[in-house]
Amino acid sequence: MKNFWSKLHKPILALAPMAGVTDSAYRQICRKYGADVVYTEMVSADGLYYDSKKILEFLKFAKSEHPVVIQLFGKDPSKFTKAAQLAEKAGFDGIDINFGCPAKKVAGHGGGVTLMRDLNKCQEIIEAVLKGTKLPVSVKLRSSIKNGDKIVTALDFIRYMKDLPIIAVMVHGRPYENPFSAEIDYEMIKSVKKEFKGIVLGNGGINVPTDAKIMLEKTGVDGFGIARGIYGKPWIFQQIKDYLKNGKYQKFDKAKIKKVIIQHAEAALKAKDKHGLIELRKHLLWYVKGWENAKEMRSVLVKVETIKDIKGIFVK
Ligand SMILES: Cc1cc2nc3c(=O)[nH]c(=O)nc-3n(C[C@H](O)[C@H](O)[C@H](O)COP(=O)(O)O)c2cc1C
Repeated sequence: MKNFWSKLHKPILALAPMAGVTDSAYRQICRKYGADVVYTEMVSADGLYYDSKKILEFLKFAKSEHPVVIQLFGKDPSKFTKAAQLAEKAGFDGIDINFGCPAKKVAGHGGGVTLMRDLNKCQEIIEAVLKGTKLPVSVKLRSSIKNGDKIVTALDFIRYMKDLPIIAVMVHGRPYENPFSAEIDYEMIKSVKKEFKGIVLGNGGINVPTDAKIMLEKTGVDGFGIARGIYGKPWIFQQIKDYLKNGKYQKFDKAKIKKVIIQHAEAALKAKDKHGLIELRKHLLWYVKGWENAKEMRSVLVKVETIKDIKGIFVK
């Protein structure tokens, strides 16, 4: 098995999967500014199984993204073997399985985090993926989910799967019941780290470099998954590396930010043509957050359509 994970230096800095955010262009930018590994948006195993044209688009990525992990979601084990085969054929370095998503359109239909209530089903899904690929397989979990009057935890999950060759696990330290703003359950992440022999990435609430240090000190993880902390600041990866190594990091000034914006816009245009720039708008708003003229800029940024528009605003 080609296992890129074992070659990464610890602590490993991973761009966590985010639907609508971690597309190819943004993954390229995050790799450029310090991410050691990047995850795709969640990709429907059913969509791949049925060769959906729209879903097959998610298999595209740029060389500079390596190592890049595709994240699959779904709830029907029979769809995952073919999905894994297609992912391997497309050239991804690893396959992750989503057992953490609380979004209604996924969890509401028995997928994502709600799968944690049925560990046997989770096992079948992982086995189906393993059947379709020789790539390293990882999973993304939440700290816990209620199941009637019981609670299923990430630790229960890891124990249940102990005989499967799962290479890495990213644990989002928040429960399903308070999915995005609960305090991070460092104890749960720490207990998964103690139990699991592979790589454990702690996820949740890492928004500035000091947050990563706290996660490391409280849990002993092998690395971090960073999600919303990259909004408008993909260079946070480099800052975290510098901070953990030297206790300090460089701030990014406007001139540097403008350079990143242009690089991002060019990558977005190349990856998805004009549509890429429409999707870039939300990133532009994140990039200028906190600028003194951010409010006025917003009304212009939400209308950009061409690279010329973007250069007109940021290259002066
Ligand atoms: C907009 C958005 C989209 C997300 N999409 C996914 C996804 O596709 N797959 C997944 O496993 N988690 C997804 N997540 C969860 C994140 O990967 C991460 O676990 C969560 O945001 C907690 O990390 P944070 O506190 O660093 O944001 C998403 C989160 C957000 C905010």
